[in-house]
Amino acid sequence: MPLQARAVITVLPTLPHGLVDQLAEYRVVDPDVHLDVVVPQLKQAPALNRRLQQVADSSVHAFRRTVRREAGRGPGRYHAMTVGWQLLARSDTTTGIQLWVAQQHGLQVRIQPVTVWYDHSSRKVLSLRDLFAPAAWPAAQRAVVGALRQHSDRPAAVKAALAAPGHPEGKGPTFGFSAGGSLVVTPAAHSRSPHGMPASVRLASGPLQSRLSQAGRSASGAARRHQSGDARPGRVDCSIRKCVALTFDDGPGPYTAELVSILEQQNVTATFFLVGDRVRQAPDLVATLDEAGLEIGNHSSHHDELTFLGAVEMEHDLASASRAIAAVTGHRPTLLRPPYGSRNSTVDAVSTKLRMAEILWDVDTLDWRHPDPAHIRHAAVNRARRGSLILMHDVHRTSVAAVPHIITDLQRRGFTLVTVSQLLHDTPAPGRVYRHQSDSPP
Ligand code: NI
Repeated sequence: MPLQARAVITVLPTLPHGLVDQLAEYRVVDPDVHLDVVVPQLKQAPALNRRLQQVADSSVHAFRRTVRREAGRGPGRYHAMTVGWQLLARSDTTTGIQLWVAQQHGLQVRIQPVTVWYDHSSRKVLSLRDLFAPAAWPAAQRAVVGALRQHSDRPAAVKAALAAPGHPEGKGPTFGFSAGGSLVVTPAAHSRSPHGMPASVRLASGPLQSRLSQAGRSASGAARRHQSGDARPGRVDCSIRKCVALTFDDGPGPYTAELVSILEQQNVTATFFLVGDRVRQAPDLVATLDEAGLEIGNHSSHHDELTFLGAVEMEHDLASASRAIAAVTGHRPTLLRPPYGSRNSTVDAVSTKLRMAEILWDVDTLDWRHPDPAHIRHAAVNRARRGSLILMHDVHRTSVAAVPHIITDLQRRGFTLVTVSQLLHDTPAPGRVYRHQSDSPP
């Protein structure tokens, strides 16, 4: 069977929880330049810890270099850097760690994923090449380069980057295993998807197995075991688990596809309240949301303040937005978020008639007012409590840039991220107003 490969817009498996008690952290903080870098440190894995520190330190150096260079050129832009992490796999034989390196310079935001895989028996950090039996490596390289042809004008550079050992500044490939055991490779250098995220290649699980080295089989097994048994969307019981729901308003917009990639990479779900006019302009993005299993709600047709509309006009507006969504997804939304959270008894009556629950929020990140990922991250994470509905807007690049860190921070605090319907025990009632899970007794 030939080694199969196809290009995808990335999917790294992730696991929310894992043995945090065995971990220490290596942290670099400098409030003067909005720097907050944190990577884990494991017991009895010195080579892994060194590599993680290297990634942290080299990221910090690169960031400071940029800041210094600009300081000589007159009035400075805003700068910020954060590095966060999560476990991809953890077993006696293998540890996989995902790092997110996010840099902001002015309004430019760049998020770079870095993966570090460690083999506990050889006490070595694993390169992509180490996952393969030596004889299988050339074919694996060809498969990845071939699948990326559309996304890269420099196949030779991609090939070289694949062979390179994992680079502290993230120039080597990142890799991980999907829930089905496929190997997902993202050659960070010289390949970009249309939305700015690095393009990824998925090597199908079946033909892959016979080509893996011993270390590769251990890593793949550890990743799969780490994923199974944990909460998957649709099977979450929020009366037992500590759940919160991320919600994104006003899209679909230019950063929606990137956000979907991030959510898929981190294996979490969320709810999107879409504006009817924008749905009609970008039905493909709505299809992307729907295919990714994300929940879609109604945010009116034109983002008018509903309380300024009469009942007839209001019904027309909301029904029209629902129709636009249903034209793509095949079903009308059951959730309404009134623009500006503005509602009255007419809104209640119309949403009852249109069979939609009114979803407000208890955590407002004010991300539209503060276009700064660090600020948004802080606002979302520090105010979240069990059952929170967190309000964000994916029409801002800076909001999307904050999401990887919001997810890892929330997960490290023990939260499970769910859709609004999941948070409300799948029973939000039409015409009723919800600001928090406690508005929906189990
Ligand atoms: Ni809005």
